[in-house]
Amino acid sequence: MDVFEAIRARRDVRNEFSGELIDEDRLTRLLRAAHSAPSVGNTQPWDFVVVQDPATLAAFAAHVGQCRDDFARSLPEDRRETFNPIVIEGIESSRTGVVVTYDPTRGGANILGRHTIDETGHLSVALAIQNLWLAATSEGVGVGWVSFYREPALRELVGVPEHVHIVAWLCVGPVTRFQEVPDLERFGWRDRRPLSAAVHRERFGNGDVTGDR
Ligand SMILES: Cc1cc2nc3c(=O)[nH]c(=O)nc-3n(C[C@H](O)[C@H](O)[C@H](O)COP(=O)(O)O)c2cc1C
Repeated sequence: MDVFEAIRARRDVRNEFSGELIDEDRLTRLLRAAHSAPSVGNTQPWDFVVVQDPATLAAFAAHVGQCRDDFARSLPEDRRETFNPIVIEGIESSRTGVVVTYDPTRGGANILGRHTIDETGHLSVALAIQNLWLAATSEGVGVGWVSFYREPALRELVGVPEHVHIVAWLCVGPVTRFQEVPDLERFGWRDRRPLSAAVHRERFGNGDVTGDR
């Protein structure tokens, strides 16, 4: 699969995990892809906690279930009805969680490029996640990003030190197929924007003259 094909096929996976455990060589390849991402000041500020203990997966799934219920309760009725059938995680069915963290102390006090924009640390970690996600897609492995959690609960569950930020829980596992259309679009939660709405010429707000694509 070339990189454009992986970008096209990539999906956030919740329902399509096959239930097989990802094999160790493949997991290492995906983590190596993540670890090859660009990073501000070459700090590589990420760490990856691989979680496969069924008891830990079950405990995290229970916590995420509570966060999902909180969100559902916060919605107006029509949005709640749209949200209810949407599955938001495959924590146990994927059989592997990768907790991705960001250590702002990595690289010391003088980070080349972060002195003006502090978020570049977090952004570097997001790029590592995207590398893993695309590499996984090219190997027929699904990834689902879970952000329905309270940071202290996950910190406690997997022992992340206080000074390290948690960026994501990724569900990682072989899939039966990739959906063609994102679940949030299929279930009527939110559609994607056309590229032309996102592209501006010369100044923000100037429409793209090439029309909808
Ligand atoms: C930062 C971030 C957090 C996300 N958190 C969740 C989540 O908690 N649960 C979920 O089902 N999807 C989550 N997603 C996946 C998005 O819903 C998904 O990427 C989007 O609907 C587009 O679908 P696609 O990734 O299949 O193209 C998250 C994605 C990102 C980038």
